[in-house]
Amino acid sequence: MSIRIAPSVLSTDLERMGEQIAAAVAGGAEWLHVDVMDGRFVPNLTFGAPLIRALKRITDRPIDVHLMVQEPERYIADFAAAGAAVFSFHPEATIHVQRQLAAVREAGMLAGLAFNPGTPLTVLDEVVDDVDLVLVMSVNPGFGGQRYLASASDKIRRVREILDRRHSKAALEVDGGITVETIATAWRAGADTFVAGTAVFGQSDPAEAVRQLKRACATKV
Ligand code: DX5
Ligand code: ZN
Repeated sequence: MSIRIAPSVLSTDLERMGEQIAAAVAGGAEWLHVDVMDGRFVPNLTFGAPLIRALKRITDRPIDVHLMVQEPERYIADFAAAGAAVFSFHPEATIHVQRQLAAVREAGMLAGLAFNPGTPLTVLDEVVDDVDLVLVMSVNPGFGGQRYLASASDKIRRVREILDRRHSKAALEVDGGITVETIATAWRAGADTFVAGTAVFGQSDPAEAVRQLKRACATKV
C-alpha cells in the first residue's frame, strides 16, 4: 500500500515557513496539512484561508485542511476558493454532518471526517459513502508536539474494517504524535496518510525527516 506524508505547517517557524515547506516537498511530502483552530472547538487559534492562498503560490502540493472549528460549514466556500484540496471537519462541530460532507464535495474538495480520541465511530457507518477521507486523531487536538495515544491504533484498525466492508476507497489519515517510532504502528493498523508536524518541521533537515518517515514504514513490516 502506498503511503502519503502530510507535514503540518503548524510546526514551521513562521519566519522560515516557505523555506521549510520547500524542503519537505523536496523530501517527497505528498500533501501539506493545515490546522485551522478557532479557540472554541480547541483551545488555540491558528490560520485561515489567507494562508492557503499563500501556500498555493509557493507549492503545487495539495493542501489538506483540518478544521478544528465549530460550524465548519461557515468556511467551506472560503477554503474552496482559496484552493484547498481536502476539507476535514469533526462531526461534533456541526449538526448536519451529511449535508456538510455533500457541500464540501459540491465545492470541489475531498470531504474528510475527523475523529477525536474520545469520539465513537458510529457516525461513520451512516455517511461512509459521503466521505473521501477519515482522519483519526492520535492526540487530543489543539497543539503540536504531543505523544501518540496507543488507543489510536485500534481505532485505525476499526476504521479500516468499516472502509473495507463498505468497499470505500477513502483515505485513512492519522494525525498527532507521528514520529519515526510511531508511524509504522499506525501504518500496520491500516493508515495510509500521515500528518507529521514536529517530526518534520521540528528537525534541522525537513527533507531527510520526510524520507525517514517513509523508510520507517517500509522497513518495519
Ligand atoms: C493537532 C493537529 C496536528 C498537529 C500535529 O492539534 O491537528 O495536525 O499539528 O503535530 P505533531 O506531529 O507535532 O503531533
Ligand atoms: Zn491536524
